[in-house]
Amino acid sequence: MIAGAVIDKARVTASFAAAADHYENAAAAQDAAAAMLAERVLSEPPPPGARILEIGCGTGLLTRRLLPRLKGAWQVTDIAPAMVAKAAETVGEGAVFRVMDGEAPDIAPASLDLIVSNLAVQWFADLSAGLRGLARCLAPDGRMVLTLPGRNSFVEWRHALAAVGAPCGMPVQPNAAEVEQVLSGHGRARVVAEPIVLRYADGRAFLRGLKTIGAAIPVADHRPAHAGAVRRALAAMGSPCAVTHEILTVDYRTGPG
Ligand SMILES: C[S@@+](CC[C@H](N)C(=O)[O-])C[C@H]1O[C@@H](n2cnc3c(N)ncnc32)[C@H](O)[C@@H]1O
Repeated sequence: MIAGAVIDKARVTASFAAAADHYENAAAAQDAAAAMLAERVLSEPPPPGARILEIGCGTGLLTRRLLPRLKGAWQVTDIAPAMVAKAAETVGEGAVFRVMDGEAPDIAPASLDLIVSNLAVQWFADLSAGLRGLARCLAPDGRMVLTLPGRNSFVEWRHALAAVGAPCGMPVQPNAAEVEQVLSGHGRARVVAEPIVLRYADGRAFLRGLKTIGAAIPVADHRPAHAGAVRRALAAMGSPCAVTHEILTVDYRTGPG
């Protein structure tokens, strides 16, 4: 079981909805993760006509990489209506676009061949139950390939805050073994962790980027640090600074574990 952060889902939905128009100006890590994920899926594509579901499509960064190359019955979904509208606009034809909470999928059990998702399931209120729920939607021989941030994400910022005794409002993410454990016994799950290290002008630019994409959402019980402590942590980050986005890629298949 993965220890859950307290996620305010209404706030998550509103924050991403408000970010839809500017999201891609600051989504370098998401785009890099989408490229890794797409390469993995396309190295072993499902047969033509596959029933495919995307969770948390955002503006369509992953959809645009996959949909033209995988002909199938696509459902492209997100919890934020403005994100669904933006994905439909950027992707165009070839899919049903609709609002859906990936944690409560209105999908018949065992009815999908492929589920994909890039950096969205970390916003589930209960990641373990949510991943298992999605796995139940897969047909025999189905596959789910998704990414989520790992424990070492933003480690530089976390350390800078800890060094000045300030709390960090970012949710604590799971490690690869914990995610693998959640899905073990239900099928075959492999989880790999890879760092994407991005350079920013300074710590403020890193935080501004999170805000631009709608991801600057503290856990519900976070008590903000004093402004002075935050200033000291930002100064300690240096200028320019490097920040790690650790990407866990989950490759899950139905069948005996
Ligand atoms: C960081 S963005 C990633 C978007 C896109 N997959 C990409 O790679 O750019 C996270 C997305 O997950 C969506 N999301 C958050 N919670 C969700 C949930 N419970 N069900 C479906 N989508 C969710 C957000 O609305 C947002 O569009």
